[in-house]
Amino acid sequence: MILPVAIVGCGYWGPNLIRNFFASPHFRVAAVVDKDPARLEAIRSIYPSLPTSSDFASALAPEIKLVVLATPPETHHPMGLAALNAGKHLLVEKPMALSSAHCRELNDLAAQKDLKILVDHTFLFNPAVEYIKSFISSGDLGELRYLDSTRINLGLFQEKINVVWDLAPHDFSIVDYLLDEKPSSVSAIGAGHLNKDVENLAYVTFKYPSGMICHFNFNWLSPVKVRKTLLGGSKKMILFDDTEPTEKLRIYDHGVERKPDQLKYSLLVDYRTGDIVIPKLPQVEALKKLVDHVYRSLSGSAATHIGGDAGERIVRLLEAAQSSMAAGGIPVALG
Ligand SMILES: NC(=O)c1ccc[n+]([C@@H]2O[C@H](COP(=O)([O-])OP(=O)(O)OC[C@H]3O[C@@H](n4cnc5c(N)ncnc54)[C@H](O)[C@@H]3O)[C@@H](O)[C@H]2O)c1
Repeated sequence: MILPVAIVGCGYWGPNLIRNFFASPHFRVAAVVDKDPARLEAIRSIYPSLPTSSDFASALAPEIKLVVLATPPETHHPMGLAALNAGKHLLVEKPMALSSAHCRELNDLAAQKDLKILVDHTFLFNPAVEYIKSFISSGDLGELRYLDSTRINLGLFQEKINVVWDLAPHDFSIVDYLLDEKPSSVSAIGAGHLNKDVENLAYVTFKYPSGMICHFNFNWLSPVKVRKTLLGGSKKMILFDDTEPTEKLRIYDHGVERKPDQLKYSLLVDYRTGDIVIPKLPQVEALKKLVDHVYRSLSGSAATHIGGDAGERIVRLLEAAQSSMAAGGIPVALG
């Protein structure tokens, strides 16, 4: 079965989706849509055979089975509703929508029409993240204690969404996927240096019932690009550096243990510094794996971890971070 797909939005990210859907044996790119004729011209110069249109209605033609939305976040809700109402499955870019109420509406409509929504949480298909997931599941990391993530660069300033809504969907979807438990509270502070209403840096903290803590640093105003996540367990610790071309993961057999016979003023802990292992990871583009997964999910041969329910959970976390920032960093409890 080959599924006809329409891809809407050919700005920065859309061309990556077009490339992977075009290369997939499971899909046929039946329409490429963008309201900007210059973007369509750019796509035609690479793929002369692809039908392009500036009219969103072309994405809703009867033969189309899947609509992919790579348009700005504020369009995901109205265009997603239109696609579902036209009987199409939906692959929507992160963030799924700009409110959890809008996510709920999309999910309810999809359920009512027996259609699927998938959200492009690309990092869940990153081989390093998949490796960490299986490492945690094997118990080799031990009890999870903290995750500390830095995602900073000289970013493209956006007018309609702040740095949290732009960058945090990546990290929030990673922790949502990696950890079995869900956060009990979210606190965040941020600052908008060019526009006080649009934060260009933010520090966000999740607290968990077990005592696990996650901290995130997001910044569009950094002179250097850093993509580092540190995950600390009671047995081992992992450093994930996504800017490294090949050696993205380092597993440290390091830790500290409390001495059983503590004297009040003596050293309280023993340090363990063992081997550092750099696992060999498959060199596969995450988006290619995501496109394969979309096919398996739509054809019923795989359950999905990037469904509309996951998209809605991530948007709830974004909303909680936004509320906490607006309240000066007060923790927002999650139900
Ligand atoms: N998964 C990832 O790693 C990743 C990376 C970057 C961006 N994104 C997401 O992809 C989406 C798009 O981001 P971008 O950086 O490509 O934005 P962009 O502004 O570069 O591109 C958006 C495109 O959508 C077109 N567009 C806007 N409204 C439209 C409409 N009503 N009809 C047709 N075309 C329309 C614009 O002309 C533009 O070409 C966002 O949701 C963003 O968060 C995801």
